[in-house]
Amino acid sequence: MIGIFDSGFGGLTVMKEYLRKYPEFDYVYLGDQANAPYGPHSKERVEALTLKNIDFLVKKDCELIIVACNTASAEALRAAQQKYKGKPTILGVLVPAVEEALKQTRFGNIGVIGTSGVIKSKAYERELAKYGVLYVPSDKRSRKEIKACPLLVPLIEEGLVDHPATRMILKNYLRPLKHANIDTLILGCTHYPLLQKEIARIMGKNCQLISSAKAAADAIESYFEAHPDLLKKLSKKGKRQYLTTDCPERFAEIGGKFLGERIKVEKVEI
Ligand code: DGL
Repeated sequence: MIGIFDSGFGGLTVMKEYLRKYPEFDYVYLGDQANAPYGPHSKERVEALTLKNIDFLVKKDCELIIVACNTASAEALRAAQQKYKGKPTILGVLVPAVEEALKQTRFGNIGVIGTSGVIKSKAYERELAKYGVLYVPSDKRSRKEIKACPLLVPLIEEGLVDHPATRMILKNYLRPLKHANIDTLILGCTHYPLLQKEIARIMGKNCQLISSAKAAADAIESYFEAHPDLLKKLSKKGKRQYLTTDCPERFAEIGGKFLGERIKVEKVEI
């Protein structure tokens, strides 16, 4: 079974991409709605919460766990991987997003937007630096711009995707990235695919958008090719279970919009 973990229902954008590619697998989705949002929390808290949620999915016998949350991927993935040492396999969304951005960029001008937690962790910067994409904030030749957009998650969750206030805030957040002539922008948050059209409109046709949700689901194909034993172990009865640590009604209502289908959600104690 594949476990997909997120701070709340946002990770359903990742689940949606997985279901599009691999509808045959059995999935259990766990959203830690009781402690969401993770974006403003300290690294220590995100790490502790992520480990607790992953422990729960390990007990559910998941052979593969995807940390769909960018904030948890940035601040806690390594701790989780070190704890479980490959059993089960635990993967995040940052590396696939960076790899896809590097494939797509024309001039190496890569931007990232995400929650405060993602940006302050500098995880995207570290990952891009491994590929020689430098970040020199005071240098005009900077080839990478990183921007925290903390207001976007609450606006999306309030259903204000098409609201003028969201457009105004988005324009304000994206202005420095547009001025820096970003040619590729990583949407480093589970929620941002819902704003993809508006972000594309503001950034213009010379900037390509990389959804970390789509990149993560696309990357799993080559991961399975390299790890056929894991692929063999995963059960394929098309079962789907949606679990939340709190507010199952809100989860079902908003999460259903993220996923694009109605879902039955169960509350669990972890
Ligand atoms: N899931 C989070 C992320 O992708 C966004 C919501 C939150 O802050 O918990 O970073």
